[in-house]
Amino acid sequence: MDILSPSILAADYAILGDQIRQVKENGAQYLHIDVMDGHFVPSISIGFPVISSLKKSFDDIVFDVHLMIDEPIRYVERFAKSGADIITVHLEACSDVKQTLAAIRALGVKAGISVKPDTPVEEVYPYLPMLDMVLVMTVEPGFGGQKLIPHTLDKVHTLYSYIRSHSMSVDIEVDGGITVNTIKDAKKAGANVFVAGTAVFRGDIKSNIEGLFEAVK
Ligand code: DX5
Ligand code: ZN
Repeated sequence: MDILSPSILAADYAILGDQIRQVKENGAQYLHIDVMDGHFVPSISIGFPVISSLKKSFDDIVFDVHLMIDEPIRYVERFAKSGADIITVHLEACSDVKQTLAAIRALGVKAGISVKPDTPVEEVYPYLPMLDMVLVMTVEPGFGGQKLIPHTLDKVHTLYSYIRSHSMSVDIEVDGGITVNTIKDAKKAGANVFVAGTAVFRGDIKSNIEGLFEAVK
């Protein structure tokens, strides 16, 4: 099944609750929450207080938390306690990837790993048995509203083929530049979880979501 994970990075924070209600009502299964620390990526976004407030009002949508922070192991417990259902860390940001994934799983939440566009996807293979999801970044992390980098979809396909040939069950998420025009190619490459920020929150949320689901039907 195709899963849509609207990224609230592109939402209007003054009416965030109302916008999340709309994405839920229109069938989005996940909510993508981008956490940026100003080190691993240049931007700073949101953290624990926002996530735990949202969780109180929305406990029936999956909180898909994408950590763009250095040494995320320091914070995984607090993100889990704040309400994360899936915690995705960057391969490039962990000095001990296995230990970080084990820490996430020990908290009872799902574990994901993400790779930037220039990181070979083969680098995640050793960790697949510990993973629920791999997030293949389709833009450089740090900002919304960028264009998808086409070669990243080759990585999605390589990963998809590897996962299938090893009879594993790991989701493949794509993030960055996903629109009604690119979502189809991402699905064809093998992705099944689609993050979209601008393409959901700019304009009318209902028709945007309908358009995205329609494009992968
Ligand atoms: C970028 C973030 C994305 C971003 C996607 O670092 O990880 O989740 O919000 O935004 P769009 O869909 O606008 O490219
Ligand atoms: Zn993201």
